[in-house]
Amino acid sequence: MKVEEQAILGRTVEALSPRLVVVKAPQPLPYGEYVAIDYIAEGKQVTALGIVSATQYAHAVPPSALKYVRPEEVPYEFYKLSEMRVYIVAELVGEEVEVPRYPIPPDSPVRLATFEELRKLYPKKKGVRLGVLDVEITKRRKEEAEEEGSELELGIEEEKDSKLGLEIEIEADKLAKHLLIAGATGSGKSNTVAILAEGLAAIGAPVVIFDVHGEYWNLAVRPKFKNEVELKVQNAVLNPWHIPVPVFAHLIVSEGAATKQRRLLRAAIRHLHNELKDGVTAEGLRKVIERLGGKASEEEEDIRETEEITKLYRKALILSVRWVRRAKGSYDDKTVENVVDKIEEFFEVAPISLSAEPLLKNMSHGTVLVIDASLLSDEQKRWTLKLIVDELLERLKKEKGKASAVLVVEEAPLFMGKEVSHPVKESLRKFAREGRKFGGSLVVVSQRPRNLDIEAASQLQNFIFLKMVQEEDVEAVMNIADNLEENLASMIKTFPEGRALVMGEFMGKFPAVVKIDKHKGKKVGATPNLTELWRRAKEEVKTKSQHYDA
Ligand SMILES: Nc1ncnc2c1ncn2[C@@H]1O[C@H](COP(=O)(O)OP(=O)(O)OP(=O)(O)O)[C@@H](O)[C@H]1O
Ligand SMILES: [Mg+2]
Repeated sequence: MKVEEQAILGRTVEALSPRLVVVKAPQPLPYGEYVAIDYIAEGKQVTALGIVSATQYAHAVPPSALKYVRPEEVPYEFYKLSEMRVYIVAELVGEEVEVPRYPIPPDSPVRLATFEELRKLYPKKKGVRLGVLDVEITKRRKEEAEEEGSELELGIEEEKDSKLGLEIEIEADKLAKHLLIAGATGSGKSNTVAILAEGLAAIGAPVVIFDVHGEYWNLAVRPKFKNEVELKVQNAVLNPWHIPVPVFAHLIVSEGAATKQRRLLRAAIRHLHNELKDGVTAEGLRKVIERLGGKASEEEEDIRETEEITKLYRKALILSVRWVRRAKGSYDDKTVENVVDKIEEFFEVAPISLSAEPLLKNMSHGTVLVIDASLLSDEQKRWTLKLIVDELLERLKKEKGKASAVLVVEEAPLFMGKEVSHPVKESLRKFAREGRKFGGSLVVVSQRPRNLDIEAASQLQNFIFLKMVQEEDVEAVMNIADNLEENLASMIKTFPEGRALVMGEFMGKFPAVVKIDKHKGKKVGATPNLTELWRRAKEEVKTKSQHYDA
């Protein structure tokens, strides 16, 4: 049978609203399947297209209890029937695609939607490919292609999907309204980011990923984008020379109440940077140290690993603190010693380098710039992201109309959570609010949408919802995405990994259930295979001990 000649699978029994219809069928269809329901309204042929959003399977009439007690006496089968709920996405009336207005009459026939019909729902766009629709009809097309001994050299399953599935793209221009990617852990968020980032870079976007967990450092560009996309990874190393003085002071003295210590520190940094007018060099620092009464050649015991210039900077900064104290006379011993302790501690634990390049130096069109912040503490991550967001927005405003940037923020509740009171939150809100006018797109990734700040989240108007298990999170995304109805949202809980409900302007008028492409060049985020890890480690230990025994 040709796939376009669709068999009747079941019939409608009750329309609960124009959006929701109950269907009964001898066989259940899986969640997320697209079906078509034909009927006549006002004398016109209408085809409603919908998604199976709930599905059950039971006996049509309760079988005799004997069937379970003495099965041999009831050898015959009882009728089974599946009851499904179909969420109507749209109606086709002639060439028009319309929002459903009438409830579908009972007894209307239900069949699989055809490719042509689905194409009308999701027309091809000039954009970035996200994946394919996950529908039964793809499977049948594959079987057909195989039967016909199609000339398509069909290799692995994913390539078949790619060739025979219904491709879903997003319209990149509409990312000005930003994007929220939400899903439980392991649902496929980072994979989605990888697919999108690469696709966007391939059409020329400058993409920056703020990589909180160090998940992207060994992302490898997929072969099809080999010549178009460049991937650059940069460690989020802080260079005090490039950081605005108040922010640097906050990084070292982070306690909200310690304003006096911060004031002293700011004065010390300013003094030091003034002394280094011509730039920061080891030679210049040595001179400053001598001028401030220190000895540049003294051995530094505790931070041996650090590069020379960073050691010198630390020393000069401490001397500068003492200088400010002498010059101003208004700070007590305790304040001074606290600040000195904090500087020493900061240089021991934070990734700092006076020779590090500015964080956004490698940002450019066609490049995915991964800023690996995994070595920073949460507080440092917040400040570092604030630096990045502020600088991006400033650049966008300065080069109005010419510049653009897509900024991906993983683990968003750390930066724009309800409870967060850090200045990075306001920076992100501002970027979302003003960024759209200046070519800035924000992609927010969250495991726990319920923790997101409402105001910041309300700026996000495109959505990719992967599997979420917790009711609170599903409720939260229904609040954030105004037109996400409960009947559609309930499906999110049943998604396998990599499946997503995609909606918002970048998707077009209608939401879609998409099987997102799997990024094969992405290794780090992949759930580690622990048994394999342990087996190998154990073998190594064994080989070693054999060696010692010999
Ligand atoms: N589109 C997909 N198709 C098939 N498998 C996928 C897809 N997306 C993700 N996976 C699988 O799911 C696993 C988790 O994916 P990923 O790291 O993207 O999840 P995540 O949501 O970012 O998780 P976490 O919250 O832990 O960071 C991966 O091992 C990957 O193999
Ligand atoms: Mg992830």
